[in-house]
Amino acid sequence: MKVIKSLTQMLALCHLQDAKVGFVPTMGYLHEGHLSLVDAAKKECNVTIVSIFVNPAQFGPQEDLANYPRDLERDLKLLEERGVDYVFFPDKTMMYPKGFRTWVEVSELSDLLCGVSRPGHFRGVCTVVLKLVNIIKPRFMYMGEKDFQQLSILRIMLKDLNLTTQIVACPIVREADGLAKSSRNIYLSAQERTIATSLYRALYQARDSVNQGILDAHALVENAITLLTQAGAKPDYVAIVDARDLSEVISIDSHSRMLIAAFVGKTRLIDNMMLK
Ligand code: PAJ
Repeated sequence: MKVIKSLTQMLALCHLQDAKVGFVPTMGYLHEGHLSLVDAAKKECNVTIVSIFVNPAQFGPQEDLANYPRDLERDLKLLEERGVDYVFFPDKTMMYPKGFRTWVEVSELSDLLCGVSRPGHFRGVCTVVLKLVNIIKPRFMYMGEKDFQQLSILRIMLKDLNLTTQIVACPIVREADGLAKSSRNIYLSAQERTIATSLYRALYQARDSVNQGILDAHALVENAITLLTQAGAKPDYVAIVDARDLSEVISIDSHSRMLIAAFVGKTRLIDNMMLK
């Protein structure tokens, strides 16, 4: 496995353009969720490239950029064990040199859901992912359904901008009690860790209700909010959207997905699930 820190070196790997390159963008502090994307890329591609870059542009001024967990040594060990070919580890000044002023924004969808409490977040995500795709030129980019809005927005960005990279969406990897794996779970105290399972429980309850014939989205959302609140979490939003375009759903059908963002203590967690 080769770790590449320089942009020139990464761009010089142009022979890769003929290979079936699978790319996994990450912000590091890797867990089994990230590694499931690596495994999927390894299975389907000739060359697997993982990027590790804690992207300042997607963090708001009050968010956890400075404290975002980092452990490069451990990450590299895990990636080496998984048989990754290249790790791209750029620094901030390489990605955003002095005078950088070009931003990519997918309108409307970036202002919904997580975009309401995280203004500018998806602009930061889109800009960095487009830059990484332009540098690496992968055939496939592996992304988790855990960040469902991010996945939907990036799909549209690639299509709108005529990029040929295809996104491969991978299922959410969870802890034994249902909590979606996340680098941010490390922030949770023992008590908060118990409360954090309420996101999964709320989603599961909604899916169960749909199986029993309750198809009214409003009622399902209200029940989820009640469950979260009673458990001690503070819902940021609970929404049911059409998974194809993130539009609001009134009555559940086979495309309906419930999305939750909730604070557990100071930590903001997200999760989602198909309801049918
Ligand atoms: P990060 O949060 O590190 O996540 C990197 C990738 O791992 C994303 O595609 C995310 O959806 C996926 N992932 C995280 N937890 C997962 C889980 N439990 N199961 C399955 N997949 C999971 O998302 C980002 O970084 C950044 O926004 C990035 C795209 C790298 C741009 O900076």
